[in-house]
Amino acid sequence: MAERPSVKDILAAARKGGAAKPADGGEAAPAPEAPAAAEASGAPAVPPPAPSLGRPLTLKEKLAAARGAAPGAPAAAAPTPAAPAAAAAPATGEKVVPPPAPSIGRPLTLKEKLAAAKSGGVAPAAAPSGGVPVAPKAAPAAKAPARDLPPLSEISDPRDLAEALRQAGAKKDKELAGADAKGAPAKPAAKAKPEAKTVPGKPSKSASLAEGTSRRAVLQFPWIVAGWVAFTGGLGALTAMCGRFMFPNVLAEPPSTVKVGVPTDFAKEDVSERWKAEWGFWIVRTERYNGQDILFALQSVCTHLGCPPNWLAGEQKFKCPCHGSGFYISGINFEGPAPRPLERFRVAIADDGQIMVDKSAKFQEELAQWSDPDSFLPAV
Ligand code: FES
Repeated sequence: MAERPSVKDILAAARKGGAAKPADGGEAAPAPEAPAAAEASGAPAVPPPAPSLGRPLTLKEKLAAARGAAPGAPAAAAPTPAAPAAAAAPATGEKVVPPPAPSIGRPLTLKEKLAAAKSGGVAPAAAPSGGVPVAPKAAPAAKAPARDLPPLSEISDPRDLAEALRQAGAKKDKELAGADAKGAPAKPAAKAKPEAKTVPGKPSKSASLAEGTSRRAVLQFPWIVAGWVAFTGGLGALTAMCGRFMFPNVLAEPPSTVKVGVPTDFAKEDVSERWKAEWGFWIVRTERYNGQDILFALQSVCTHLGCPPNWLAGEQKFKCPCHGSGFYISGINFEGPAPRPLERFRVAIADDGQIMVDKSAKFQEELAQWSDPDSFLPAV
């Protein structure tokens, strides 16, 4: 059996315009420049090889050339697994026309190419090509044992590359199946994405105003509270003061009566000042008011502006130190601004014979009250 030409040989033959020859000198594929001979032998016409690209072929192009379905000139000239059969057709006299690959109107994806390479079937044509339709690859009768392949970086044959990829995929599937059988988790759970932080949006103008107002209100809160407390306290105090006017003052005054002694204790034309400081009156005994010897209690308050006059025994008069008003021993005013005589208190003889002075009752001379018997006592 003739050895299959490599891709390099195919490409070199394509550039030279010929067909690659097997390494062992076997029968070569019909040359493109001899279509007449092919026709003469009954073989289908092979289109002339495409001109060289002038650059190294890409992996994709190599795969396409290997399958004979990829676009480009080298693919048209490259022998396919079906090509030897076609080349051998003139020898046998049979006319083998492989079924055209179905066109899908787009370039093949790598997945589709790998699937076609694994299944060994016919890969759909990427686009309508002007070359000779290539017969679909026959499915292998039995699965060939895995071959030892060099590393991927050293593989130059597209078929070896496809085989290496197939073996790698099968190995990975086997590993995954073994992991599932052992109960181990096939894949670690996808790392949960950290929860996106909620970034507060830019506050609106109204929200900013409301926030500023509330902040100012908080800052002024103590003063507002203090103001309300002061206002409430003042209002309560005012209410209490108004209510106080509803009740009269209750004065704890000392008793208004006092006993000053018996009438014989007082000398004629004399003034006793014993009760002036504590009680505010003098006990006077005199005959100079109406010619009668009488006793009476004379209030020690000036009738001008209320100053306490002094008794001047040498001058026999009361003299006010404030404005100089003068009063006789009877209490009649005679000098100074005092407008009227001094006033008397009510006097009476108590049960024990003592003179009792009652300050709750007053008698005024200008009102003719000194003639009242309660305003004096006859001296005995
Ligand atoms: Fe006595 Fe003015 S108060 S004279």
